[in-house]
Amino acid sequence: MSLKKLSVLLIALATAADVLAIPQYATLAGLTERQLAEVVPQMNAKIPPAPPGPLRFGGLKLVDDRDHPWRPLRDGDIRGPCPGLNTLASHGYLPRDGVATPTQIINAAQEGLNLINQGAKLATYAALLLEGNVVTNLLSIGGKTHRTGPDPPSPASVGGLSHHGTFEGDASTTRGDAFFGDNHSFNQTLFDQFVDFSNRFGNGYYNYTVGGELRFHRIQDSIATNPEFDLRGFRHSTAFGESAFIANNFVDGRKTGAEAHQLDMDSALSFFRDMRFPRGFHRAAQPGGGEGVDVIFNAHPLQPGHNVGGVNNYVVDTSRGSLFDQCGIYTYMVNTTIRDLYPNPTGVLRRNLNINLDFLYEAFGFTSADCPQVRPFGRN
Ligand code: HEM
Ligand SMILES: *[C@@H]1O[C@H](CO)[C@@H](O)[C@H](O)[C@H]1NC(C)=O
Ligand SMILES: *[C@@H]1O[C@H](CO)[C@@H](O)[C@H](O)[C@H]1NC(C)=O
Ligand SMILES: *[C@@H]1O[C@H](CO)[C@@H](O)[C@H](O)[C@H]1NC(C)=O
Ligand SMILES: *[C@@H]1O[C@H](CO)[C@@H](O)[C@H](O)[C@H]1NC(C)=O
Repeated sequence: MSLKKLSVLLIALATAADVLAIPQYATLAGLTERQLAEVVPQMNAKIPPAPPGPLRFGGLKLVDDRDHPWRPLRDGDIRGPCPGLNTLASHGYLPRDGVATPTQIINAAQEGLNLINQGAKLATYAALLLEGNVVTNLLSIGGKTHRTGPDPPSPASVGGLSHHGTFEGDASTTRGDAFFGDNHSFNQTLFDQFVDFSNRFGNGYYNYTVGGELRFHRIQDSIATNPEFDLRGFRHSTAFGESAFIANNFVDGRKTGAEAHQLDMDSALSFFRDMRFPRGFHRAAQPGGGEGVDVIFNAHPLQPGHNVGGVNNYVVDTSRGSLFDQCGIYTYMVNTTIRDLYPNPTGVLRRNLNINLDFLYEAFGFTSADCPQVRPFGRN
């Protein structure tokens, strides 16, 4: 074959690959029936296994250990908006490339940061259903691929945790709103504000008191500057919840008494920016996550809502649930968001959606009298 023919062939192959090569972790949400018919057969379909239970030993433990050394990013590694998962990946509790199964994410969040089983399951199955690939049972922890060179062309949308509006949301502590362009990278200006608030309200440490003030400030800032600001439903809950995680899961478990739930600024920077445990870090002494969220919320209670028609027009909207209406969150997420993402699923896609919807419902911990399960795709 002539060199010219060979290069024509290679370009044709590369172009074909460009059209067809969708990574195994890319979300299938929002694809048309035609696209699904083309893409699903290329996916390495799995039957989702039942989620892991709680840790057998959930106590104090050195987690910055010899089996889990921190390593810098390699080209192609994916990281995203969650400093917890980023850190777990950079220490090898999760695959270092940032692509994982729900089982791996739940196990890593429990083992490395002592996130409580129910919280780990809820976040993980919500993330898989909203932004992961339910056929391959894979999820990427973000949308940011580390590269030292120029970015290669990438498929339009591969989802992952940086996908705005489903899980990733506005008024994050150290990340900007998607409206301003970058919704997942560490932002030094916002971290400086985190330090400033910790100095003013926490005597140099981040605690629930600081969390209450900073959470409110970040929300007010977004109301005033982001015409598309949205704090409805799930985001109302995760915004306050994440402010509590910082004081619960990032503080060394050896700190007790007056030092408990007080995060020093070096440790905060280590997690948020460097995706690294502070040297010799011990996880929390018992499984947890949301403790103190009531203190944070009650500092400046604010109903769920969004800006309508521009900045400074925050309109309360409780129709998608709230921190205090988890059933509303669940029902809107499944019956509206997930139904819209998958208008008419069939075959293995429908089977796996249904299996994961059962896991999600179970993770919320409702009884059927509290909050009946919704089945937008029928039963298997
Ligand atoms: C103990 C484990 C975890 C910790 C300590 C943690 C901590 C945090 C914190 C502090 C934030 C807020 C970042 C900011 O506002 O700047 C955050 C964001 C986030 N976390 Fe986690 N997380 C953990 C586990 C998980 C798990 C299991 C998932 C689900 C797969 C998850 C998904 C997310 C997502 C999507 C965001 C971004 C939301 C936003 O835009 O603010 N996290 N996490
Ligand atoms: C989130 O940020 C990434 C990278 O800046 C961007 O490509 C993506 O469009 C953003 N999401 C939205 C919906 O703004
Ligand atoms: C970081 O956040 C600040 C404050 O919101 C913003 O002005 C700035 O543009 C952001 N920086 C980057 C690099 O996105
Ligand atoms: C946070 O720290 C400040 C300053 O030390 C203290 O007054 C406040 O009580 C602390 N809040 C909590 C909830 O620990
Ligand atoms: C779910 O949506 C369907 C179709 O829109 C509707 O008929 C049903 O009442 C909804 N169920 C709940 C619990 O909201």
